[in-house]
Amino acid sequence: MSVPVLTFFNNKGGVGKTSLIYHLGWMFSYLGKKVLTADIDPQANLTAAFLTEDTIDKIWNEGPAGNTIYQCVKPLTGVGDILTPKLQDIAENLSLLPGDVALSSFEDQLSNEWPNSMNNVNLYRPLRILSAFWQILQIAADKVQAEIILVDIGPNLGAINRSVLIAADYVVIPMGADLFSLQGLKNLGPALKDWKELWTKRLDNWENSNDRKDHPELLLPEGKMRPIGYLCQQYGVRLSRPVRAYDKWVQRIPGVYREAVLGEKAAGEIKQEDDPNCISIIKHYRSLVPLAQEHRKPIFDLTPADGAVGSHANAVFSARDDFEKLSLKIMGKIGLCAGIS
Ligand SMILES: Nc1ncnc2c1ncn2[C@@H]1O[C@H](COP(=O)(O)OP(=O)(O)OP(=O)(O)O)[C@@H](O)[C@H]1O
Ligand SMILES: [Mg+2]
Repeated sequence: MSVPVLTFFNNKGGVGKTSLIYHLGWMFSYLGKKVLTADIDPQANLTAAFLTEDTIDKIWNEGPAGNTIYQCVKPLTGVGDILTPKLQDIAENLSLLPGDVALSSFEDQLSNEWPNSMNNVNLYRPLRILSAFWQILQIAADKVQAEIILVDIGPNLGAINRSVLIAADYVVIPMGADLFSLQGLKNLGPALKDWKELWTKRLDNWENSNDRKDHPELLLPEGKMRPIGYLCQQYGVRLSRPVRAYDKWVQRIPGVYREAVLGEKAAGEIKQEDDPNCISIIKHYRSLVPLAQEHRKPIFDLTPADGAVGSHANAVFSARDDFEKLSLKIMGKIGLCAGIS
């Protein structure tokens, strides 16, 4: 049985994906889960959130290969095979497969192998390459006995993200309440549907091929990419626009989500606050955010010694409550129970 993969996806950038993965990674681990986080965004922001620059410098430039997602897939660009990933231990129940700015150079190869995987012969190599992220994630999860894999990706509909989505069992869509996020939602719904269908065709092609008999050991992801709901950024400082403008966009999300992502015809208007597809509204945590980044810890772990005093201390407390509730809700949606299983 493979370990479930969850990712956060919107082709509108800056909607809080990396920040959510970072905080949920920590919170899932506090709730007793063994968590693997993976940075498959060439921007490598998740890696920068977890590790110091010195450590990143070391794993990118020195040391044994297999330290980053790119180092693991790099041999595939020649005649080699996937390298076993070496993980960073962040905390007892939390590990990271670091990202790499060099990963963007893998995009072309993933694009080239996509049509090849529908040929009649020589399917092993293209499918090995297209499913490389999933293979590496599963090897990594096995190493640390992870029960859930959280993957951070960049904001686009390119070939790297297609391969991550093929590896994903569940997808959460973070949104800003603005025109650009809504447009992103309209694009990514059909993209998810296409990728799912096209991957299923490739699985069928493999199933019926002679190559499969020569490589019975090759396991492939199912490409479920099930959307489990959206998260919406709270009205506030991030957009510094009047409430009315916020409301105008936020109230359009339920209908667009149902139509573009779930393929359901919107029967009547659903208000965002009544929408079962809205997992949560994400608060703006204001000055706690830079404070937490400075101390390289989640906002809910800030202490008075870090400068979280007075009203900040209360905000830390309430952030812990927010993320605990959000984690439990997401865990419920993907069938992961809190506590030691
Ligand atoms: N709840 C929040 N409150 C305040 N600031 C936030 C919150 N979530 C994220 N931010 C800030 O917003 C910015 C964008 O967030 P983040 O990098 O997580 O977005 P992203 O979707 O991963 O971006 P990209 O598309 O570039 O990968 C960052 O500076 C982050 O610190
Ligand atoms: Mg990001």
